[in-house]
Amino acid sequence: MTNILGISALYHDSAACLIRDGEIVAAAQEERFSRKKHDSRLPRHATDYCLAEAGITARDLDHVVFYDKPLLKFERIVKTHMAYAPRGRKSFAAAGLLWFGGKLQTKEQIRESLDYSGEVLFAEHHEAHAMSAFYPSPFQQAAVLTIDGVGEWATTSLSVGRDNSLEVLKEIKFPHSLGLLYSAFTSFTGFKVNSGEYKMMGLAPYGEPRFVDTILENLIEVREDGSFRLNMEYFDFPVSKRMTSQKFAALFGGPARHPESELTQREMDLSRSMQEVTELVVSRLARYARKITSMKDLCLAGGVALNCVANGKLLREKTFENIWVQPAAGDAGGALGAALGVWHKYLGKPRTAKSGDSMRGSYLGPKFSDDEVSGFLNSRAIKHERLSRHELNERVADLLKDGAVVGWFQGRMEFGPRALGNRTILGDARHPDMQKKMNLKIKFREGFRPFAPAVLAEDVADWFDLEATSPYMLIVAPVAGHRRTKDHVDMTKLFGIDKLNVVRSQIPAVTHVDFSARVQTVHKETNPEFHDLLTVFKKRHGCAVLLNTSFNVRGEPPVCTPQEAFTCFMRTDMDYLVLGSMLLAKSDQAALTHDTDWQKEFALD
Ligand SMILES: [Fe+2]
Repeated sequence: MTNILGISALYHDSAACLIRDGEIVAAAQEERFSRKKHDSRLPRHATDYCLAEAGITARDLDHVVFYDKPLLKFERIVKTHMAYAPRGRKSFAAAGLLWFGGKLQTKEQIRESLDYSGEVLFAEHHEAHAMSAFYPSPFQQAAVLTIDGVGEWATTSLSVGRDNSLEVLKEIKFPHSLGLLYSAFTSFTGFKVNSGEYKMMGLAPYGEPRFVDTILENLIEVREDGSFRLNMEYFDFPVSKRMTSQKFAALFGGPARHPESELTQREMDLSRSMQEVTELVVSRLARYARKITSMKDLCLAGGVALNCVANGKLLREKTFENIWVQPAAGDAGGALGAALGVWHKYLGKPRTAKSGDSMRGSYLGPKFSDDEVSGFLNSRAIKHERLSRHELNERVADLLKDGAVVGWFQGRMEFGPRALGNRTILGDARHPDMQKKMNLKIKFREGFRPFAPAVLAEDVADWFDLEATSPYMLIVAPVAGHRRTKDHVDMTKLFGIDKLNVVRSQIPAVTHVDFSARVQTVHKETNPEFHDLLTVFKKRHGCAVLLNTSFNVRGEPPVCTPQEAFTCFMRTDMDYLVLGSMLLAKSDQAALTHDTDWQKEFALD
């Protein structure tokens, strides 16, 4: 038996993944345990969980692998600062402290934190992304594109995967980076880099693409083969925490938007324009990948692969017959890619692609049995009912139909940024005020973003113009024509959120202003509990779609344990909570007070 531990850490979204004889046993992000969003520290808790899930200790590990090469990264930072000197002295001093303070001793740190004395292997960052995209994919051979901010030097790579081999064909190197260009706009539009990219993508449909030419003429030169160069006069990111230069602001008519201040039409137009430029680059890269690899299928990973609008467009362009996106496409997924790489590439073990894929629905985290849940509830005298599966589904389906918001906590936690039905908050997408209720009373977040729909995989074509599956909520597709409602509202007279409040389909809570939706197809094979609930909802109330949003509030990572789920339930206006087979009603609960011991125990703040 060969146990391999993959680790990604020390940049953002650290994670651990355990592979046994080539099978993915467990994978989880550190933030879910430490409760610090995007936690980048060495994933001690996530590693402990992975080892426990496999029933082993660190001494039983045959290989440990890190997802990038810190020395190469350090070399890039030194060389970049030398090229820009004397600019960036401060940022270089700060980086030096970080690197000499620990990052250069990654191997020793890993050994020490694991109490492990064996060898530590290092994969290259984009290679780890590429391996996370290809090895678990359903394809025996495929073209592989990885696009992100930056790894060591590469920011974009094109590879070809055949059986257990993966060969890098082309790379684009720092500072020329589509991910960093996108993040520059994220920062300029007033959102947080490395987490606000999603918000900018959600803002884009409100805008007009009036800056596309400005971007293409000044900021990025995109060639026919999808390769690109940034004009570095407009960017400060190589030697500063600031992403953009004064020249950038001058080009777009003034300074960046202050975080949390009012959004204006300019931010909407900038978002839309950058979205279109992203789609242009991704589309050209894909065409080139098809041409030089002659592969009919494509795998994607890297932070830019989380741009599900671009993925949806790529799918509709039919450059490739099939597209598979690694659900943990960001850096967390590097842990999984690196571990699979040790098995297939380093040890040369054969690989047979599985139908669907090898990710087990990305349900790779901790689970809690009904006995554990009821033990917790009883120990705190928390009122609940234990129901049979059938009863539970019928009750929840009826509650949802009546407008209730229900926390749905089942089975193993998801790996990757999306909630896929195990740590999820559900609502009936048909209610016209559900989007508002979820945003303001449950998630406490900006109101301009619609929610995502989960749909029975077999019913997807009845609700969306989507000819493929989207099990990881990484494809945006239009709501089907016959599900749209004819509205007679003059949209040109409406601004921002008022546009979203116009009911434009039978499922308004998950329909964006351009009729798009970020679809999750729910499959019986990978999530029978969620599939059963949707089936009962459809049978009783005629709709195979539910609104599905991650089980957390703004600024916090999704919940991991039943305790965290209960706390989140009590701190929001959620009406019901389902923990495995238990149903809890808010109206039955005593208010959460600040002096309860157990509340302190679960570190609420
Ligand atoms: Fe990355």
